[in-house]
Parts: sequence; structure tokens; C-alpha cells
Amino acid sequence: MFVSDSLNVNAQGHLTVGGADAVTLAQEYGTPLYVMDEMGIRENCRQFKASIDRYYGRGLVCYASKAFCCKEMYRIIKSEGLGIDVVSGGELYTAQGVAFPADRIVFHGNNKTRQELEMALDYGVTRIVVDNLDELAALNQLAGERGVKAGIMFRIKPGIDAHTHSFIQTGQIDSKFGLALETGEAMEAVREAIKLQHIELVGLHCHIGSQIFDIAPFELAAQVMIDFLYRIQSELGYTVKELNLGGGFGVKYLSTDEPAPYDAYMERVSAVVRSQCARLGMAEPFVLIEPGRAIAAPTGVTLYTVGNRKDIPGVRSYLAIDGGMGDNPRYALYQSAYEIVAAAHPLGEKTQQVTVAGKCCESGDLIGEGMALQPVQPGDIVAVLATGAYNYSMSSNYNRIPRPAVVMVRDGQARIAVERESYEDVVRNDR
Ligand code: LLP
Repeated sequence: MFVSDSLNVNAQGHLTVGGADAVTLAQEYGTPLYVMDEMGIRENCRQFKASIDRYYGRGLVCYASKAFCCKEMYRIIKSEGLGIDVVSGGELYTAQGVAFPADRIVFHGNNKTRQELEMALDYGVTRIVVDNLDELAALNQLAGERGVKAGIMFRIKPGIDAHTHSFIQTGQIDSKFGLALETGEAMEAVREAIKLQHIELVGLHCHIGSQIFDIAPFELAAQVMIDFLYRIQSELGYTVKELNLGGGFGVKYLSTDEPAPYDAYMERVSAVVRSQCARLGMAEPFVLIEPGRAIAAPTGVTLYTVGNRKDIPGVRSYLAIDGGMGDNPRYALYQSAYEIVAAAHPLGEKTQQVTVAGKCCESGDLIGEGMALQPVQPGDIVAVLATGAYNYSMSSNYNRIPRPAVVMVRDGQARIAVERESYEDVVRNDR
């Protein structure tokens, strides 16, 4: 019926999210409003966990926090037994706020500051993903000062083009992330790391892109990485125990999208890892994966109130809503497509095509163009679907517009996960 199992329709014909009436939620909490379905998040966590257990056996699913991060999300992820990937002191601080176990945290970032590295060491993070040689040296020194050994993974560029939007493609040589295999710099870094006194190289990591529908690039990445593990073992006599294959699993934003089932991904990638290890006579590594979007995106919607409408004859119809690029910058940044429905009659016929415009002082502030929608009037509630990932987390206060609240729904009962910002919040740090 809809792009996500978190959505349904109730007896009044209204859209429901996690069993809660979207129109009622908008009345109670105001708009714009992010709504997330807790059981949907849990279900996605369980699916990933079950599939890694079933097809591989030894692994850890680390939710990529950048997709959607707040304490309540971390509480849910923690209780599901997953790990997390964090990419900043801010995400790590949030995780510390819910006492997230340090041995289930992977710390990424192409330019972590010394302060962030210190924070990770002091919290006891056991997997710091080192991006470059400068960082390796800094970490060795900081770990030395603390009399500890820093557990690290190296971020490797496997050189794979995953055919996705160029902004979010990170696997090729021309990337600010990680160390290239082709140029020999990755091997150089490994050689260096295993000599350092305060570094323990535990794993290798790669991430080939995001919103990938095809399984083949993941299989190829796994193969390239296993080959590299083997080269390290045979050339340096060192066994790297863990392999982190990153995230990037595609989700359904439009009814026409057909992402591969996560199970199929795990089944095929596990087969590659197993067969390669068997062929090379190597022990199978512990495997980590980092789904972000796939856990969060389908479980969220954003509710807006319709404002004015502008029909420009022969050009287009603009429908203005009370949010925009401040709460969802993804159309402005990547021309990402979404579906929109009228919350009070989401199954009604979509009789119009509109350009949904936000309220920012910027022409590019659009949620989508040519979006099919049921008839709506000013004051009606519309829902943009599958906004659970990279919306709240990428939101801004552009034009000094306060960020919306995030409401978490469980079995029809809503609670605030993140308070709506006030004008006072917006000026809080002003002097
Ligand atoms: N691991 C690493 C190291 C990553 O860089 C990313 C995403 C992930 C995991 C999670 O990828 P996912 O499973 O969510 O695809 N802002 C963009 C997406 C950027 C993704 C960056 N890295 C967007 O809104 O589409």
C-alpha cells in the first residue's frame, strides 16, 4: 500500500505511523513534525542481526548513527544488541549519554580532531577507524600518553564504483576517505601500524557508497578486501581479525523502487567471504556491517501543514508547506525523490502534480517537483514518506527556523524523542 510497513490506514481512512493517527499527531505536537515508528526500527535491526547470524555466524551489525541520531534512538539500538558507528565527538557524546557499550562502537571520520581521538580513547572505544597516516601517528601518541593500546581498523578504498549519486560515492581512488589499495598506501599504512607500540590493528573497513540497489558491488568489495587480508597475512605474517564492510543498502523511497532484500545481501556476501577464505586457506574474519538508511529511513515520515498554493499557468503549481530544506535538505542537495500523501485521505486518488516548496528564502528550497498528491486545502496535513534517515540528522537552522520535534511511536502511543526547538533555543549561543 505504502513504501514502508510502518505506514497504514485506520478506520477513519487517516494515515497511521506505527499505529498512531498522523492527523492527530500533527494536532497534538504541531508541524513540521518528524514521526518515527519504534517497532519498525526494531524490526529492521532484528532483520539485519538475524541475517548476519543465519548466513555468516560471526558478526556485529553497527547502526550508522549519521542516518538518525538521538539518545532515544541509541537506547533502542542498544536494547536490540546492535553496535553503532559514530563519526564525530557529538555522536559519541550522545552515545555516552545513554552509556552505550564502548566495545560496540566504531568511530569513523576522515579528520578526527585530537580531542575526538582522546574522547574515544578515554571512553574505551575499541574500534577507531583510522583514515590516514597522520591520524595513525597522532593516535599512537595519544594512546602512549595514556599507557593503552588503541584498537584500530583502517579505512580502505577498494576502488569500486557502486553506480550511485556521485555525491555519496566514496569507494573510488578520488575520495577524501581512506587509503587506496592501488597506490600501495594501504599496505604501507598496515606495515607502519603493526610496528607501532600503542596501536593494535584489529580490522579493515570499507564503505562503497549509499542507497545501492545492486548486490554485485558489495560482493566485489568483499572479495577485494579478503584478497587484501590475505596479502597482509602472506607478506607481513600478520592476521587482521575483523572485516567491516560498511553500509549502503538501498531503501524504497518510491513505490517503483526495488532494493535487494537485506537477507539476499547477507547471503551472497557471506558466500563470497567464506569461499574466498576457503580458497586462500585463511581463517574467516569477524564481519561488521553498518546499515544506516536501511534501519531508519522507512520508519519515519515528516508531517507538514499546507500553506498557500501558487498556480502558474503553463508552468507549474507550487504548494507551500511549513517546513522545507531546513528539515529535509535532500532534494536541494541530491534531487532525492520522495512520495507525499494527504494525511487525512492517503489512499484517495492523486489528482494533481505539485512542486512542494518550503518556507526558506531560497528558490531551491523544494521537497520535490512533479509530486503526485491528493487534493488538499490550506491547513491540511501532508506526510512526506520514508524520511527517517538523513532528514533530522541533516537539518539546520537556516533562516533561524527552529528544528521540528521528533516523536517516537510505539504501538500507537507517541512520546517525544527530541523536543521541538524554540526561538529561545535558536538564540541560545548568541552573545
Ligand atoms: N558507514 C560509513 C563509513 C558511511 O560513510 C556511511 C554513510 C554508512 C556506513 C551508512 O550508509 P547507509 O547504510 O546509510 O547508506 N547524506 C546522504 C548519505 C550519506 C552517507 C554517508 N555515509 C544522503 O542523505 O543520502
